[in-house]
Amino acid sequence: GVKVAVVGVTGAVGAEMVAVLHDRKFPLTDLRLFASARSAGKTLETPFGSKTIEEFTVDSVAECDIALLAVSGDFSKEYAPQLAARGVTVIDNSSAFRYDDDKPLVVPEINPHAIGDSKIIANPNCTTAILVVALAPLHKEFGIKRVIVSTYQAASGAGAEGMKELEDETRAALNGGQAGNKVFAHPLPFNVIPHIDKFQDNGYTKEEMKVTWETRKIMGLPDLPVSCTAVRIPILRAHSEAATIETEKPVDVARARAVLGDAPGVKLVDDTANNVYPMPLNASGKYDVEVGRIRKNAVFGDNGLDLFVSGDQLLKGAALNAVQIAECVVA
Ligand code: HSE
Repeated sequence: GVKVAVVGVTGAVGAEMVAVLHDRKFPLTDLRLFASARSAGKTLETPFGSKTIEEFTVDSVAECDIALLAVSGDFSKEYAPQLAARGVTVIDNSSAFRYDDDKPLVVPEINPHAIGDSKIIANPNCTTAILVVALAPLHKEFGIKRVIVSTYQAASGAGAEGMKELEDETRAALNGGQAGNKVFAHPLPFNVIPHIDKFQDNGYTKEEMKVTWETRKIMGLPDLPVSCTAVRIPILRAHSEAATIETEKPVDVARARAVLGDAPGVKLVDDTANNVYPMPLNASGKYDVEVGRIRKNAVFGDNGLDLFVSGDQLLKGAALNAVQIAECVVA
């Protein structure tokens, strides 16, 4: 059996990690939950029963075989190497190690072989994880030359505080008040905000560049041109994305559907005759990423395909992918 630690268990991602470990019957002998001193000693109701939250210390977590980190990048940078040095396999949900050449960035459906015997494994940005499960099988079939993507991202991407702000401020707006904002750059209720994370010198936001950098690394295509516009919308926990790919080979829409229908982690939801397509309302709480609206792209002609995806930001976008990595580690 395996001893597992979840660090940052009071956050939205940490709580989902515990739920997914339980749901997937992860082969653990002990599960320990860690958070900051502020939450230590509190009891948490989990699918494993009531559990006491422990204060994070390297010594305590080093008693575990695997640590799932749902903490800030600064925290990960400081403590993940210390835990790895003590023999713990660390699966880190922050961006601290994603771009290190010697650290794997893994989506198990796509590049599980990258894990090797690494002691620190990076979990991708939610938007990227949700996108690449659809892109990778299409790349295998048609060869992807360029990608253009626009995102429709849920409040949960900003954590539990983001979800709370959306709910509270929506209520405030409906009660005749004014919606405010602390977590988001602007009030999110009844709004669409084309701004997630900091603006970079090139005019893209960091969130947008993460999609470029991480898609390249996971798919093993270091020069793939990717242009992303990342947008926050008033949805609780599933991200959607509209993607256009230009392909090496001519695309066949029926073949694309067949390939996606067989792809692991993907649920083909594409029956426009019956108004069936991916939506966050249906993708929330589900493991599979919904993919649909598959059609030839009118600009790229035979060598282009459009698709729309929706995936749970806290599951495939975070906790599920991390637990899947842990499953690869113990397999
Ligand atoms: N940065 C993402 C978002 C969260 O804000 O939606 C995913 O890692």
